[in-house]
Amino acid sequence: MRNRVYIKDLKDHIGKEVIIAGWVDVRRDQGKMVFFDMRDMTGKVQCVTLPSHTEAIEKAKEIRPEWVLKITGLVNKRPEKNIKADVLNGNVELEVIGVEVLNKAETAPFQINESTSNVDEDLRMKYKYLDLRTERMQKNIRMRDKIITFFRKYMHDNGFIEIETPILMKGTPEGSREYVVPSRLFNGNFYVLPQSPQQFKQLCMVAGFEKYFQIARCMRDEDTRGDRQPEFTQLDFEMSFITQEEVLEYTEAMFIELIKNVYPEKKITQIPFPRISYAESMEKYKSDKPDMRVNKDDPNELAFAWVLDFPMFEKTDEGELQAVHHPFCSIKEEDKEKFRKGEDLFSIRANAYDLVLNGYELSSGSIRIHERDIQKQVFKLLNISEEEQRKKFGHMLEAFTYGAPPHGGFAPGIDRIVMILQNEPNIREVIAFPKTGEGKDLMMGSPAPITEKQLKELGIKLSK
Ligand code: AMO
Repeated sequence: MRNRVYIKDLKDHIGKEVIIAGWVDVRRDQGKMVFFDMRDMTGKVQCVTLPSHTEAIEKAKEIRPEWVLKITGLVNKRPEKNIKADVLNGNVELEVIGVEVLNKAETAPFQINESTSNVDEDLRMKYKYLDLRTERMQKNIRMRDKIITFFRKYMHDNGFIEIETPILMKGTPEGSREYVVPSRLFNGNFYVLPQSPQQFKQLCMVAGFEKYFQIARCMRDEDTRGDRQPEFTQLDFEMSFITQEEVLEYTEAMFIELIKNVYPEKKITQIPFPRISYAESMEKYKSDKPDMRVNKDDPNELAFAWVLDFPMFEKTDEGELQAVHHPFCSIKEEDKEKFRKGEDLFSIRANAYDLVLNGYELSSGSIRIHERDIQKQVFKLLNISEEEQRKKFGHMLEAFTYGAPPHGGFAPGIDRIVMILQNEPNIREVIAFPKTGEGKDLMMGSPAPITEKQLKELGIKLSK
């Protein structure tokens, strides 16, 4: 819209006639005069319609919350006694001269001019586009963008490049169930969606990029919880010729800089971040994500901590052997002898580390294996047959024979970071279009059946 002024800039137009556009927030009809607040992406302003503007006041009497309007008005200084300090436009108001209704709106299923944190969540999910109009949700999503923008710039400033890796891929072992996509051209064959770009980022190292990052979408078919969604976002990164110490130092400096720049009101409990071994953390805190805050009621306290020396192997609840992080982690020098012999598996430690914040696991990473024989030994200890190794990981084993550099990396979960920094109780509050606890999208209605025709093309027969 030409000549439109954003609401936050009205203060620069005192005494002038301007055009604004946006949504009606609240309306207060006071008989002779009509007051209402207008809202755009930059903020709110009080509008006053005086009886002298006969046409405008006729229209103003009709309008309802959430109608979309274009308003011509005069920016006035508020009378001294009505000035609200510390509020956007607390010292100005708009005297309405003309009202153009761009669109009407049904009565919203919940109040939009206040926080929806107490509204039934299913209702919020169904009308997500309305929920997102609220000030709290706008703030969460806009701060998320600020955080991601900070990370992108920080990575670029440090010589990383962003590389997009495939979404349609073959399984990667991150310990969860995978989402499966049937192939139309190869009936009976399937892509899976990435649980993380783990293998691709390692292959980017073999490819000689040395410093890779990606704001990466990951998909895991696991039970959702407050800090888990079936799809989520990582700041995934990987470096070649790097030691664990360098990954820790780089990451720590980045988080300190993030807080300084984007959340200056927050305080980090301890710098350098405290470091604790996995074994010590389990013994002392009975957890591998210790909450080291001094005052858990202080919304501005951030207690980062490093948890180091994770074990390489563990037993699942079903009694199966699996890698604690993933099978690509390298083994600690001190434990290499046991590893070679395949002895005392559960005491073998990996060069694997987590970053913890206020009791949440923020990130995992490791220095990786870059030698074929060592990778094969891990697979062997995990009881993966030669045949299966070739089928599942042949490309990795082969890549390691063509000059793979030593490398390692990390993958902070962006949703969890934003959740904690925005003091929200779960990650659904910081994702624009999240899924419910059962993995449903109540607005679009997914997951949903597909047509007979699609099933046929895909070569799929449903069992019931
Ligand atoms: P990991 O599986 O530990 O490591 O994941 C890294 C980080 O991603 C976030 N995260 C999630 N966030 C929301 N919903 C989920 N379902 C979810 N699952 C994980 C967490 C977690 O710490 N490829 C390795 C990283 C590496 O080794 O470099 C990986 O994905 O914040």
